[in-house]
Amino acid sequence: MTHTLLIDNIGELTTNVGERLRDAAVVVADGAIAWVGASADAPTADERFDAAGRALLPGWVDSHSHLVFAGDRTAEFEARMAGEAYAAGGINVTVAATRAASDAELEANLTRLVAEARRGGTTTLETKTGYGLTTPDEVRAAQIAGRHADAVTFLGAHVVPAGSDPDAYLDLVTGPMLDAVAPFVSAVDVFCEEGAFDRAASARVLDAARRHGLATRVHGNQLGHGPGVQLAVEYEALSVDHVGFLSDADIAALAGSWADGRRGTVATVLPACDLSTRMPLAPARQLLDAGVTVAIASNGNPGTSYTSSMAFCVATAVLQMGLTIAEAVRAATLGGAIALGMHEDGWRDPSGAIQRRVGVIEPGARADLHLLDAPAATHLAYRPGMPLTAAVWRAGTRVV
Ligand code: NIG
Repeated sequence: MTHTLLIDNIGELTTNVGERLRDAAVVVADGAIAWVGASADAPTADERFDAAGRALLPGWVDSHSHLVFAGDRTAEFEARMAGEAYAAGGINVTVAATRAASDAELEANLTRLVAEARRGGTTTLETKTGYGLTTPDEVRAAQIAGRHADAVTFLGAHVVPAGSDPDAYLDLVTGPMLDAVAPFVSAVDVFCEEGAFDRAASARVLDAARRHGLATRVHGNQLGHGPGVQLAVEYEALSVDHVGFLSDADIAALAGSWADGRRGTVATVLPACDLSTRMPLAPARQLLDAGVTVAIASNGNPGTSYTSSMAFCVATAVLQMGLTIAEAVRAATLGGAIALGMHEDGWRDPSGAIQRRVGVIEPGARADLHLLDAPAATHLAYRPGMPLTAAVWRAGTRVV
């Protein structure tokens, strides 16, 4: 028998389809949204939750994180705050700690971080491999990630591991390593940046992904202007992430990728990472003004962004990147869903189960809901840093 849940007396409802609604109600059945409308018109249900005038929005869709790791990089962070530049060299510190950790330690750390994200309102989470960088270490990272995340991305092309020959490593990543990891991931990512993988090497990684029928993503234009964005657009990557250093041509290429009703490349901005590395904030305002689809994600990782707080990212996007509240909330929910290809029904989670669309509150969508302890989503930026998550439902089940 279907159990129905009515959440009524919602002060402000952000659905990401049409205008925000006041005095609204939502009915949930079988893990999905069954009805949305005015509180006064709401049907009865088996169970009622009184939102008491508070704001309800879709759960955060965090489309970029690196949470399968061990160790800590506090000293590196302290040095950076004392003036040292971030140069990606610390990735190999985490690689060493991750390789040395047991499966149980890696899984316990990931479980802790995913629980932290849930408590902050995240209901959909992508995470990447990329701190193993040997075939067995990347396979185990992908398997562990698949037990906790909604999407797993292979990032064997994160850096060339210490002591490896770059050409031999590229052969490994695009050959036997990808062959071994492919059954456990839905996408392949590459860190296209000076000091990591150049344009030609990155293109080889994306070509290998295509041969496996896997979606692609690119870490691009993080530390300086480079070819990442153009490459991502050329390969029709689902997203290019970081996008801190963009030329007008990059923005035009991203905007052009969405022209004529085509599915383009999402520009994913990572505000917490920009702050934590003391890099310029990505030009999210310009991207939106140019017609680019923008996502906001946490980039949770121990080196450049040790947070899973999407609320912090949203507040930063509003207060410092010039987005409106509605734009920032949309980018951190529906934007992330589009970046992951989860904005339409029928995507498969790592267990192979077919899932409903996320990032919107409308009949048929997965019932991923985030209730704020505030009357309006505006409070996310108006009261920055405050713990505003009051309740979270994921596929209709209360998880916070
Ligand atoms: O997205 N850019 C590369 N990867 C991570 C950083 C990882 C690290 O420093 O450990 C990022 O910022």
